[in-house]
Amino acid sequence: MQRMKACSLDELPEGQCRVVQLGKRYITVARRGDNIHAVDDTCPHMGGSLGTGWLTAEGTVVCPWHGWEFRLEDGAGVWPSGIKLDTFETSVEDGVVYVHADDAAETAAD
Ligand code: FES
Repeated sequence: MQRMKACSLDELPEGQCRVVQLGKRYITVARRGDNIHAVDDTCPHMGGSLGTGWLTAEGTVVCPWHGWEFRLEDGAGVWPSGIKLDTFETSVEDGVVYVHADDAAETAAD
């Protein structure tokens, strides 16, 4: 498991999400209250970028292309159900957001 720098906490305001590239993967990082979530950025519908979508008050991220919706907590599809995004552990240290993932070894870590 690698810990990779995603962005600074200042670049991720409350209630916002953004896309970060870690190695070969694009990951959506989202800030909701004190929690930072990280899920696969690629929408399983037709490949929209979830990190360019928006968050809801219910703790979901909505794909900007056709409105598929996923829970940030566990990646589970809300609409439609029965699908699931990869999720990643996160941490914050000294104002920096880190994502913990296995498969982005060639990324420039911190
Ligand atoms: S590509 Fe995401 S809802 Fe269609």
